[in-house]
Amino acid sequence: MKVDVLLGLQWGDEGKGKVVDVLTPKYDAVARFQGGPNAGHTLEFGGERYILRSIPSGIFQGGKTNIIGNGVVIDPLLFKEEAEALANHGHNLKQQLMISKKAHLIMPTHRILDLANEAAKGSGKIGTTGKGIGPTYTDKISRNGLRVGDLLENFDEKYSAAKRRHENMLRAMNFEYNLIDLERPWLEALDYLKGFRLVDSEHEVNAMLREGRSVLAEGAQGTMLDIDFGSYPFVTSSNTICAGCCTGLGVSPRNIGEVYGIFKAYCTRVGSGPFPTELHDETGEAMCERGHEFGSVTGRRRRCGWIDLVALRYAVMIDGVTQLIMMKSDVLDTFNVIRACVAYRVDGVETDRFPFDLSKAEPIYAELPGWRTDMSRMKSEDEFPEEFNAYLTFLEDELGVPIKIVSVGPDREQTIIRYNE
Ligand code: GDP
Ligand code: IMO
Ligand code: MG
Repeated sequence: MKVDVLLGLQWGDEGKGKVVDVLTPKYDAVARFQGGPNAGHTLEFGGERYILRSIPSGIFQGGKTNIIGNGVVIDPLLFKEEAEALANHGHNLKQQLMISKKAHLIMPTHRILDLANEAAKGSGKIGTTGKGIGPTYTDKISRNGLRVGDLLENFDEKYSAAKRRHENMLRAMNFEYNLIDLERPWLEALDYLKGFRLVDSEHEVNAMLREGRSVLAEGAQGTMLDIDFGSYPFVTSSNTICAGCCTGLGVSPRNIGEVYGIFKAYCTRVGSGPFPTELHDETGEAMCERGHEFGSVTGRRRRCGWIDLVALRYAVMIDGVTQLIMMKSDVLDTFNVIRACVAYRVDGVETDRFPFDLSKAEPIYAELPGWRTDMSRMKSEDEFPEEFNAYLTFLEDELGVPIKIVSVGPDREQTIIRYNE
């Protein structure tokens, strides 16, 4: 068996959580491979709404195995809050969930460093989620990190040394903070985390594949937030792309199967950084309102704009996408005209290449007629209006990959599978 991977192709919040939940019945296991509680993945079904941050979105469908892989960074306190809230709803994950011993721990001082780094950047701030993601990955790469497996031996010593180092950094930055309030509940949460199955998840995943069991890898963030290929420096601190699945789970590139690329029928971004197709007018306002575009983790308003096919083609290339999934088309149901960025103008020259400096890109648009039909109750593609089919065909031609799933609302049921063999 191979691992199928589901990835966001834009700046995150494409609807990964919803689709992972929809696809889970086809798989034996669901695994997160990178990112951490900067993610907020929303699932809706049976009138309930859940937002998952560190726990994979495969926990609600039939007791499937869920894995937090080595590439993930985990905050024990936020994890505890998340898992306890689920347990209160009757979802006890102690048996279902495995956590890699190699996943790195987000310490309270990482969260403070995140805030301090942002403050130091002033107007050039990234607009991070403030969850300590950057400092934790920085410690991982500089070989100073603490891992989940460290909880099992001499933890106090390792923790004190790491904390001292962080405190020295904060002192050098002249940053005022109060650690005590953050630290006490964090330390208490460590025992809760130790109550889960802490494993060498690369062995577990590869054993599953050998035994013919199927695994779906759940991406977090999106390709435009990738540390190497995204809109640097306004990105997250990990590889959000398909290759991140190999390093974040210990899966060989030869064992990657389908790559599902998920995108909104328009585009959003939270935090700072270039966004060529961003709209500052009533159309952007309408997208935000109809799409309820407020961050699931921070509640921040998401910036909205037209779909960017230059960026999407780039993402399809970097990720090796084999199937596309289009989300939130219902948000555009009332629009008379739909625009799509087909090329950029950079330094006065037209290009279809994603440029080194995205802030220089001015969008060049194609225009298509809107479908002006309420699609939110549709159940099959036979009901799609003609203009909507034309939009799908246009996107498939531009991106060179079939759109296999269309989502017309937040609920699990509002999902239409196309090309149903
Ligand atoms: P993720 O981070 O990629 O899992 O996405 P988020 O959960 O952060 O953001 C997606 C938001 O859109 C959530 O509030 C979902 O409930 C909602 N959503 C998902 N699919 C659809 C859809 O097809 N239509 C509408 N209107 N909302 C959707
Ligand atoms: P999901 O998985 C949207 C953005 C932040 C900020 C930048 C860096 O729900 O799609 P970080 O805290 O990671 O250092 O912030 O990345 N960001 C996201 N935006 N969805 C996410 O996750 C995000 N995770 C990080 O807003 O601009
Ligand atoms: Mg999200």
